[in-house]
Amino acid sequence: MKKIIVTIDGWSSTGKSTLAKQLAKALGYIYVDSGAMYRAITLYFLRNHVDWTDRQGVKKALKQINIEFQKNPKTETSEVYLNGENVEYVIRDLVVAEKVSEIAAIRDVRDFAVAQQRKMGDHKGIIMDGRDIGTVVFPRAELKIFMTADSSVRVERRFKEMFEKNPNITIEEVKANLEMRDFIDSHREASPLRPAKDSVCLDNTNLTQRQQFQKAMDWIQKKISASKY
Ligand code: DC
Repeated sequence: MKKIIVTIDGWSSTGKSTLAKQLAKALGYIYVDSGAMYRAITLYFLRNHVDWTDRQGVKKALKQINIEFQKNPKTETSEVYLNGENVEYVIRDLVVAEKVSEIAAIRDVRDFAVAQQRKMGDHKGIIMDGRDIGTVVFPRAELKIFMTADSSVRVERRFKEMFEKNPNITIEEVKANLEMRDFIDSHREASPLRPAKDSVCLDNTNLTQRQQFQKAMDWIQKKISASKY
């Protein structure tokens, strides 16, 4: 069967990775969580006290960073490794979430991540989620999805997810972090978050996971049938 590239961009906590994982599993495609790369870089910077306002320091630090994805045989989803260490869970901490948008706005950091992301798409059959995947990483992708949902619904979802790991977290903290990240991600100079002109919008405020999966699958099937390669 013909393989295509599917990009999923959108606001924080709209369920991009949940949908992307389900689609990749159903299609036998590779799933790449590009946000995990920016989170892993942030973790490295925090752990190694990298001053990210110093361009030379950032460039030097990036040379020390190796990011890989490996499939977890139990969950069958890919997990991110930073210099050989599985950091899939630690990068979801609020400490990382508080700094990641600032670090992801640095042009050298983006160039580093985007170069690796493009290589991953060489053989198609890939679903990548993030903020600039349809606009910058794969501008010629066959299907570009832009996800959105009401902000109260997004805060509620993220709070539930984070509360399971950290019962001390408050809904106000989660809301403030989400609003801050959305603001920085959409207002930065380098590759700001915005829908690609040829993207399709998926608002899942009132959709079940099953319904959104079906909608996306229909779009994918149509694109596969229309694809030449
Ligand atoms: O998808 P996420 O919440 O794990 O992403 C973490 C941060 O990384 C997000 O606030 C913005 C940044 N990001 C980005 O700038 N570009 C991407 N392609 C993916 C994520």
